[in-house]
Amino acid sequence: MKGLILSGGKGTRLRPITHTSAKQLVPVANTPVLFYGIRAMADAGIDEVGIIIAPETGDEIRTAAGDGSQFGVKITYVVQDEPAGLAHAVLTAEPFLGTDPFVMYLGDNLLQGGIGELKQAFESSAPDALILLTPVPDPEHYGVAELEDGRVVRLAEKPPEPRTNLALVGVYMFTSAIHDAARAIEPSARGELEITDAIQHLVDNGSRVEPHIVNGWWKDTGRLDDMLAANRLILDTIQTRLDGELIESQVDGRVVIEAGARLERAAVRGPAVIGAGAKLTDCYIGPYTAIGDDCVIEHAEVEHSILLAGSSVRNLDGRMESSLLGRNVKIDRGDRQPRAYRFMVGDNSEIGIL
Ligand code: DAU
Repeated sequence: MKGLILSGGKGTRLRPITHTSAKQLVPVANTPVLFYGIRAMADAGIDEVGIIIAPETGDEIRTAAGDGSQFGVKITYVVQDEPAGLAHAVLTAEPFLGTDPFVMYLGDNLLQGGIGELKQAFESSAPDALILLTPVPDPEHYGVAELEDGRVVRLAEKPPEPRTNLALVGVYMFTSAIHDAARAIEPSARGELEITDAIQHLVDNGSRVEPHIVNGWWKDTGRLDDMLAANRLILDTIQTRLDGELIESQVDGRVVIEAGARLERAAVRGPAVIGAGAKLTDCYIGPYTAIGDDCVIEHAEVEHSILLAGSSVRNLDGRMESSLLGRNVKIDRGDRQPRAYRFMVGDNSEIGIL
């Protein structure tokens, strides 16, 4: 069985972070989202992994994931010229996939518990496709499935009036039957070849599509709130490891402090991770925070946030919370009078003065 991870697309919902960086590389608990998918493949014993990349962000993904040896897999990169849909991505990868069965994993998804069990279910009951479903409060944002007597009868991509609350999770198991199905469908109203339509095509033609309800948590990290939620869920699973330097500092709860980080008169209340080379001075880091490599926090309080590498937060009056800072962002408060706000922010940024 091969693996296919989809890391192309545009990432419009995480702008401005994704103006300069692939959304699949935004870190959750200081590890790029994409790496969780690659590790899930490796843990399930899938060692041939194809990664779909877009021309604009592909190089960055190649640099981060490399040849796959850091995960114990062999990675083949497949460039998709335009984000023409998930089924289009499958067709683009056909030369890599050949006639092998494969697991397709959306590169911005996180699935607790991995895919080992699903692979076993797929291999033992041998359907033409296996889809993962989970009940959600907002099914209109996802592909939605309708079941009858435990069988999949109908699928719809982001229907305005969903008929069930069962969302399609971004992990699928396919036989090579999916290639002909992807060739048979037309682009959707949003102009994409939808994998949901290709699976419906399998159902309509009498192929066996098996549903599997997900027990653990699942997150599509496409939006800020989802990123923060994914960060919480992963941070809840970490084990304390304090490799950095602690000077007159206090650490409570589960906290990882990477080697090369330096904390002076800092209080960290976990779960939290502090990246290598970070400098934390006279500050408080609250629960569910991931501070990237080489960040600087001074005279400030930060909680329930994700800071990418090289960012700095200094001299804040109030606590910064529920925030996502990109790379090398600088937030500082001066002491001049009269006091004022001064911003230089990219397109589609959001600033909340609460
Ligand atoms: O997250 C689950 C949902 O993922 C499913 O419920 C939907 O049925 C499915 O269509 C998909 O919806 P999204 O709108 O969230 O998909 P998105 O455009 O975010 O793309 C998912 C991943 O695939 C993302 O890592 C980008 C990548 N991608 C996307 C497109 C459209 C590609 O590699 N190529 C593409 O052409």
